[in-house]
Amino acid sequence: MDPTDVYYDLCRRLMGPLRTTTLTAAQLCEVGRIVHGRPEGFSLYGVQAPAMTAAGIQVLGRTSVECCVDMLSHAVAQAVAELLREGEGDGPLVAELFCGSGNLGAHLGRTLGVPVYASEIDPLVHDATSHNLRVTGASTRLRLIDYRALLPLLPVHGPLDFYVIEPPWGPAVTPDGLDLLGTSPPVPEILADILRARDHRPCLVGIKAIDRILHDSLNVAFTGARHLRTVATQPPFPDGVRMQFHIFRLGPPGT
Ligand SMILES: C[S@@+](CC[C@H](N)C(=O)[O-])C[C@H]1O[C@@H](n2cnc3c(N)ncnc32)[C@H](O)[C@@H]1O
Repeated sequence: MDPTDVYYDLCRRLMGPLRTTTLTAAQLCEVGRIVHGRPEGFSLYGVQAPAMTAAGIQVLGRTSVECCVDMLSHAVAQAVAELLREGEGDGPLVAELFCGSGNLGAHLGRTLGVPVYASEIDPLVHDATSHNLRVTGASTRLRLIDYRALLPLLPVHGPLDFYVIEPPWGPAVTPDGLDLLGTSPPVPEILADILRARDHRPCLVGIKAIDRILHDSLNVAFTGARHLRTVATQPPFPDGVRMQFHIFRLGPPGT
């Protein structure tokens, strides 16, 4: 089979029949080999796939596809740290609204030295991630809750507060690209929820995407926001698509 077909076939199994299955050591290495080029290329919480099971890490099929791996999470945390150095004041609020593996939040917490607040709505993902955060010593405060219920509970600190939004892509991603207006929920709705929860005070927002964006949906979703950084460290997937992470400043014009 063509490597792209092997990759698509594996993703279909991980998001389908294996969606809520804790992957075995062999399956974790298969994800590494097929999706990331080598078993060690799949790494979360600083633990590479061949060592995950022995370290007690539990990864569900869906999370192995949806997650932000170490290479990207590390680079994003460094980029955010750099942005924060330009600002003033106490540590910002950091929130990972669609927690999944919680790997990005764990990197942010460690790099920035601040607590990370996180919400996850799928009880199976929540349980696996809570376990993983505990065994890897991450200090994330993860709740089994809809992000819309978490938002009003979060203490607003200032303009450097950082919200990570990575809603499930579902049918919004196809081999043609990703439509950020079709995620669930759509990205503009999430941004409106964030601003409403903080009385429209400015903040930073980070979002994971790919380099094939449909309908100009990244720019449309972030209309009026200021683009600050794009981080792209991961090698391309077998179909040539690259993962990217964008950071924007959200808020009234001129902020
Ligand atoms: C794309 S994944 C997040 C990936 C994550 N950044 C990682 O590194 O694993 C989306 C996650 O958000 C969760 N989710 C979906 N809708 C949600 C909601 N309304 N509130 C909180 N979590 C939600 C899903 O269950 C899924 O685990």
